[in-house]
Amino acid sequence: MNDISVQAMRRLSAAGGVEMPAMDLSKPLSEPEKQLVRDAFLEHHILVFRNQKLSKEAQAAFTEQFGELEDHVVRQHDGSKTPQVHTVSNLDADGKPSYKPLTHGNYFWHTDKSYHAKPSLATLLHAIELPTEGGNTQFANTGLAYEALPEERKQAFADLKVVHSWEANRRNTKNKPATEEEKRERPPVTHPLIRTHPETGKKVLYVGIHTSHIVGKSMEESRELLDELADFCAQDEFVYSHEWQPGDLVMWDNRTTMHRAIANYSMNAERRILHRTVIKGDDIPH
Ligand code: SIN
Repeated sequence: MNDISVQAMRRLSAAGGVEMPAMDLSKPLSEPEKQLVRDAFLEHHILVFRNQKLSKEAQAAFTEQFGELEDHVVRQHDGSKTPQVHTVSNLDADGKPSYKPLTHGNYFWHTDKSYHAKPSLATLLHAIELPTEGGNTQFANTGLAYEALPEERKQAFADLKVVHSWEANRRNTKNKPATEEEKRERPPVTHPLIRTHPETGKKVLYVGIHTSHIVGKSMEESRELLDELADFCAQDEFVYSHEWQPGDLVMWDNRTTMHRAIANYSMNAERRILHRTVIKGDDIPH
């Protein structure tokens, strides 16, 4: 068991994020430790655990203490199934660091798998190899952004529904268009524009790069508003920018944050490799 009793947590920004007390995540957590993690998760949204050295199996085991591991529908470059603990990197098809890695969707503001009826609850990233500088992950607090909206906009948005889809993600990120098979496997879903966090009861703006359009509005009008709201959430005062340190494991709540990687490093020269696990979420009530 880790001894956490005497150690304090360090808040990382006004928008969220906390450095957790020293804990060895490769060992099963005690009940008080799990409770500490759950409480901090709801209060700070982004948890930073320093100095970890987790195998993929250990990362899976740590993740499973907080929910069910999520499978990934998206296939790897060679067509194989993406494992539950998978790698996020800036490598191209030849395994070299590149400005055009195999996938680049992580460089756009999003909240994980909002194109699913049951979007992901939490995501965990563990730093394996880092560039000498930069390669930050940014988190936008979509609850703080909602609170900052003028009252008349809160009211105007209260009943709006938004279609999210894998197809829209491909379009918005100028990626390879979704295949017919992918569209069948991941049909569009509709979520409220204003989502209520199921545990805290707080309202958040539920937007990001997986959005297609607002029900009842044209694509053009929808895009304008959805992009404007995503930009609104991404204002500095709502953002925590995580500067990775070797051994970091970061765990965040997708129900009240958007995130993205930023290309503030030598993408074509230095490797940025992280291991990622995701915890399944629940239906979003309409
Ligand atoms: C992700 O989008 O889950 C990964 C973000 C990152 O690469 O920092």
